[in-house]
Amino acid sequence: MSNHKNLFGLKQSVKDKLAQKVLEKRLKQLEKNKHTSETHQANSDSESRNASSSRLGTSPRIAHATKHHIADEFTRFDQFPGYQQIQVLAKGGEQLGIASPFFKTHESVARNTTQIAGKDYINYASYNYLDLCGHPRVSKAASDAITQYGTSASASRPVAGERPIQQELERALANIYGVDDSIVFVSGHATNVTTIGYLFGRKDLILHDALIHNSVLQGIQLSGAKRIPFEHNDWQALDTILSRERGNFERVLIVIEGIYSMDGDFPDLPQFIAVKQRHNAFLMVDEAHSLGVLGKKGLGIREHFDIDGKAVDIWMGTLSKTLASCGGYIAGESALIEHLKYYAPGFLYSVGIPPSAAAASLAALNLMLAEPERIAILKQRSQQFLTLCQQKGIDTGHSAGFSVIPVITGSSASAGRLANTCFDQGINVQPIFYPAVQEKMARLRFFICSSHTQEQITYTIEVLEKEI
Ligand SMILES: Cc1ncc(COP(=O)(O)O)c(C=O)c1O
Repeated sequence: MSNHKNLFGLKQSVKDKLAQKVLEKRLKQLEKNKHTSETHQANSDSESRNASSSRLGTSPRIAHATKHHIADEFTRFDQFPGYQQIQVLAKGGEQLGIASPFFKTHESVARNTTQIAGKDYINYASYNYLDLCGHPRVSKAASDAITQYGTSASASRPVAGERPIQQELERALANIYGVDDSIVFVSGHATNVTTIGYLFGRKDLILHDALIHNSVLQGIQLSGAKRIPFEHNDWQALDTILSRERGNFERVLIVIEGIYSMDGDFPDLPQFIAVKQRHNAFLMVDEAHSLGVLGKKGLGIREHFDIDGKAVDIWMGTLSKTLASCGGYIAGESALIEHLKYYAPGFLYSVGIPPSAAAASLAALNLMLAEPERIAILKQRSQQFLTLCQQKGIDTGHSAGFSVIPVITGSSASAGRLANTCFDQGINVQPIFYPAVQEKMARLRFFICSSHTQEQITYTIEVLEKEI
């Protein structure tokens, strides 16, 4: 990246640092405001559950406002801290000369390549791990389902009834884990929110890896359970917390991921299973990024460690990654699945998965099982990417070289610049900025697919080496 002196005699890197410090300070302040209003919201929620609504007026901020006038911050959408954060980021990007890398419009199937504004790019911003989105058999299964059932499932499945394709998909997913049954929801994010939010409550404890996905955090917040994070992948820290806390709660849930979506590493599952057994807790594993990636057959982290699927209480996954469609699932014992089918609000009060999406995912799952060479190639390409980065001294964090590989740039500004420079050289990759990760951990996140060629990867590393 350019480090030339500018008009004011300051090196670009110094100017970047100054601009970034100002940016960070403003973002931190807004983040604090956001949390203040969330805390107030949480207090209001619990007060309204526990006492009469008149007590809501006891907040000093509101009391002050009602005596005089209601401040703008409570009546205007453009005063919401989150919205202001977006404006600060946009302005900061402008000052630093970094064009927004978000909301690019793709004009073709996003796989190893994609088309944006009429130009072809090598693409690292898709979850199309096994190249099944866009596969003719997957697309045909979806269009056949549309011909037979139309485009909508109409209402929730208890109310509007089932389509055989939904049930077939659930059976196939249960088989992947060797468990009794599974349930499919219309969104992966909503699957975590509604499952955790519904099953657990105020007398329960939920422990989660520090890098767990937002959907899990939202579910925990909804549940009202006590939340304790533990250090990333640290089952010993988890064990220590449970030794201290287990006796104070009714149900305890531990949530981890099969492959971590930002860092591309994975937990020592057998150790987590031993901890959960020691402390009589439930264990939930989010397989969003590990299904189709880990294990010779792509069966995920359970195949990687060769463990019995029944050793984990709640298997969760999404249909939007390897399975080439849209939705989420929970797999486990019958009592869990039947319970969720009758009472989980995200299932009971939300539409069933469209038959076309279910058919696409089932076809993708069958292709994954029939063509394990896709998984082997994905592994080779991911390892090639990781090894080349390591040889060139490019920082890939903790990545284990299975599909998700971050390239840590050390600041949001440098991540933004590097992403744009790559784009100019025909490579589409998404930067991850503060506050999604710590500022010094800002990065480009590369999703590797089985369709990436060795030449595309070699070229990409050449560009990275030259530009970092
Ligand atoms: C670990 C993890 N869980 C859940 C989700 C939500 O899935 P979806 O995007 O299919 O709603 C994601 C999304 O990327 C994820 O990375």
